[in-house]
Amino acid sequence: MTTSSETQKLVVVTGASTGMGAATARELAGRGFHVLAGVRRDKDADAVRAEHVEPVLLDITEPERIAALAARVGGDHRALHALVNNAGISVNAPVEALPLPEWRRQFEVNLFGHIAVTQALLPALLDSRGRVVNISSVGGKVALPAYGAYAGSKFALEAVSDSLRRELAPLGVKVVVIEPGGVRTEITGNAVAAVEELAGRMSAELNERYGKLLQAVVGQARSFDTGGLSADTAAKVIADAVTHRKPRTRYTVGRDGAVLTRLARLLPDRALDRLLAAGLRRHYPAPTGAAASASA
Ligand SMILES: NC(=O)c1ccc[n+]([C@@H]2O[C@H](COP(=O)([O-])OP(=O)(O)OC[C@H]3O[C@@H](n4cnc5c(N)ncnc54)[C@H](OP(=O)(O)O)[C@@H]3O)[C@@H](O)[C@H]2O)c1
Repeated sequence: MTTSSETQKLVVVTGASTGMGAATARELAGRGFHVLAGVRRDKDADAVRAEHVEPVLLDITEPERIAALAARVGGDHRALHALVNNAGISVNAPVEALPLPEWRRQFEVNLFGHIAVTQALLPALLDSRGRVVNISSVGGKVALPAYGAYAGSKFALEAVSDSLRRELAPLGVKVVVIEPGGVRTEITGNAVAAVEELAGRMSAELNERYGKLLQAVVGQARSFDTGGLSADTAAKVIADAVTHRKPRTRYTVGRDGAVLTRLARLLPDRALDRLLAAGLRRHYPAPTGAAASASA
């Protein structure tokens, strides 16, 4: 329910053009906040603009855009209640096959971008005794094959969030991590297109080593997506973390996320390896021709 005191407060949501960011912006506006919704293109700004959803042009890897956001927040009489670091990309390939610039791009968005926005908005959050909500992933706790770059960026975000929480607790700012499992958004389609493009550029040798794994990873990613929750459902969990008076340090989203993060805590590495390999096995392409007869 909207209260007049909440409409006095700002929330920043990055990556609000689609998926969980767009849904979270709508959900928080519905709960009475004025949402500054980060988007990268004018056409997305037009699409997300709504009552109490104000688009701001923001690529979190561009310092000038981040400075402009900080100025927009600093010039507003309303307190900044929360920053939701949601923007993200998923760059998937085996460690050996992913070119270094792609590793860097993954970390620039999923880690350094969030740190830069957090640094810029911390003065306002310290003033308001607000909170930072970082959107991690089940991939912040479990690293599937071909997810080294994505999981690496999310494991790092989890660690940075722990340090930040412990630094800011005495200063009255809360830090919360959200760990979604599968959610139906644009991220899977974009990731699959990037994997397929990369696979097309891989040398014959790398293809021999990893081609089938990549096909299995694509199949599995599609199954996470079709079996995933809606972005609106995920947004309710994120909005609860933004609004709860005493939020938990971490929230999982969806049963798959909850089960896998718990198993990762409980199982020894080798057992987890076997479990993850079994989950991937059914997504491998069926053997054809001579390979099929040899394995029959
Ligand atoms: N969907 C899942 O299953 C899932 C599971 C676990 C965690 N997550 C995490 O949830 C978060 C939201 O993802 P989503 O699933 O909602 O995917 P999505 O629909 O693809 O949304 C990602 C958002 O991030 C934005 N973005 C990408 N690069 C950016 C940059 N450099 N600067 C600013 N914004 C940028 C995108 O903007 P453009 O439209 O301009 O590209 C888009 O608004 C991500 O951090 C993701 O890792 C997703």
